[in-house]
Amino acid sequence: MTAVRDIHPKAPGVAAGVTEHMIHDLVHGFYARVRADDVLGPIFNGAIDDWDHHLAKLCAFWSSVTLMTGRYKGSPMKVHAELPGVSSAHFDRWLAIFRETARELCPTDAALLFIDRAERIAQSLELGIAVHRGQFVGHGARLVAPIVQPGD
Ligand code: HEM
Repeated sequence: MTAVRDIHPKAPGVAAGVTEHMIHDLVHGFYARVRADDVLGPIFNGAIDDWDHHLAKLCAFWSSVTLMTGRYKGSPMKVHAELPGVSSAHFDRWLAIFRETARELCPTDAALLFIDRAERIAQSLELGIAVHRGQFVGHGARLVAPIVQPGD
């Protein structure tokens, strides 16, 4: 039986030259920028107490996505559905920083793979949050921040 930490020979990251070391640098570089960002920083710094734990989890996540190692066990949809106040503007910013970081830190093929997967996962998270909030999501519609009433 294959150990969960083994890289799957047919994983998309193998052909693109992705390594665990590259994932570590991308994840750490990306979240350093996110934490310093005016739009995203307050959300992440407000929600995450243990950054070492979060970064290790996100390295495992990207390892599972690109190298199919099965290192990540979790439910991103549940975590994001419960984040208050997140809208399409946050997703656009998240992706802009991610694309910029991946292009700067990774060789082209690997950057393109990370960006492709991030865009697809962001779209599915955005849709999932909208459904969780009971928002109508028509074709091309984007996630709207909930209106907070005084006393909520
Ligand atoms: C608007 C954009 C986003 C925001 C504001 C956001 C925010 C967060 C926050 C605050 C957490 C930590 C929650 C906690 O530990 O209590 C988290 C966890 C996580 N995020 Fe995001 N995120 C965004 C987009 C994404 C995208 C596009 C991906 C994947 C490509 C992603 C992947 C993850 C994963 C894997 C976790 C860990 C979930 C777990 O605990 O198992 N996030 N996110």
